Amino acid sequence: MRITVDDAACVGHGRCYALAPDVFASDDFGHCTVLVPEIEAGSPLELGARQGAENCPERAITITD
Ligand code: F3S
Repeated sequence: MRITVDDAACVGHGRCYALAPDVFASDDFGHCTVLVPEIEAGSPLELGARQGAENCPERAITITD
């Protein structure tokens, strides 16, 4: 699965990296960067990636299976 962030949509709510710090991180402005853009299905990181995406109020994170 592929994880991408729409930089134009992210406003820095920070829920993604609070919920899944192994997958997402903050840049210098509090906006999201993706630490692991490709995750194997079934990986322990998968749940965090999905939680981060589902909890972004801006829907800035996209997961492509
Ligand atoms: Fe940005 Fe959404 Fe995370 S606004 S910092 S991608 S929770």
